[in-house]
Amino acid sequence: MSSQENSEENLLKKQDPAHGAVAVADDPFADPGLPPHEARQQDLDERTAKRSERTVALFFTVSMLATIGFIACFVIFPVDKVISVWPIGKVSALNFSLGLTLAVALFFIGAGAVHWARTLMSDVEIADERHPIQASPEVKAKVLADFKQGAEESVLGRRKLIRNTMFGALAMVPLSGIVLLRDLGPLPEDKLRHTLWGKGKALVNMNTGEPLRPEDIAVGSLTFAKPEGLEEHDHGFMNEIAKAALMIVRLQPEDIKDKRELDWSHEGIVAFSKICTHVGCPISLYEQQTHHALCPCHQSTFDLSDGARVIFGPAGHALPQLRIGLNDEGYLQALGDFDEPVGPAFWERG
Ligand code: FES
Repeated sequence: MSSQENSEENLLKKQDPAHGAVAVADDPFADPGLPPHEARQQDLDERTAKRSERTVALFFTVSMLATIGFIACFVIFPVDKVISVWPIGKVSALNFSLGLTLAVALFFIGAGAVHWARTLMSDVEIADERHPIQASPEVKAKVLADFKQGAEESVLGRRKLIRNTMFGALAMVPLSGIVLLRDLGPLPEDKLRHTLWGKGKALVNMNTGEPLRPEDIAVGSLTFAKPEGLEEHDHGFMNEIAKAALMIVRLQPEDIKDKRELDWSHEGIVAFSKICTHVGCPISLYEQQTHHALCPCHQSTFDLSDGARVIFGPAGHALPQLRIGLNDEGYLQALGDFDEPVGPAFWERG
């Protein structure tokens, strides 16, 4: 239609109030009204509606399968497995599979809901006049009624397949979060109460990596040791050494005041945990005249000639002692684990 014809038509409309378009010409913001309603295929044909229902159910089912896949990937893939995914490159198999399956599970819940709303829920256009923000009791009652009507029109009661699969998908998605709780790690059980030390474990010099003989420990020296077999490149080395680190000194046997300490020593050589019982700093200072070991963090001081009891500072209790002896080859060895858990406040006994 040419512009000339357009202007002629507008002129006609203005001149003809019965035409109903006079307001359009005078008010460009006039409500154009709703377009004529077109019934959907699903409203006209039950077979089409049934097909849409199956599609929605399929989407929810895919979501459920993806959630099961999420759990399976969590169990199957080790943390350190790496795979190559185009075009991203090398990625953690566990992270990639968890992200992918969770995304699929959530996407298909959304896709199912959207498809359901577009094809099967009520398709009636509703005009709602603007009204004050503060709703009147009548409006609230109407909203409630509309809500109930919406619930009825969602055909949940009639489309049981959709309802059941949707509830299944929604119920299963939180399982992903529950499974992830396992990443908080296994329960420590009694691991915090035990170290790598045990009967027959040789004492190995922490610096040289050599097993220690009694003659390697001079009076007045401070030697740090670890259990044989524990190497720096081992998986979990830091966790293990944080519990098993050992501090060895040699005293004159007659200087040892505590009877049990003397029994657990070998020729005046005593072995105590290197981990401070305050908040776990490694003890590194030793004063040979007084036999005091000092923690550099908050100056807790332990008397190594008297059961490593605390004589100063905030530490709550004595350093655990390791019972030692000699093996057949003349090397120092442990005769058991520490007599109590090593380390700080967790083990405070009040
Ligand atoms: S950690 Fe040793 S005194 Fe605080």
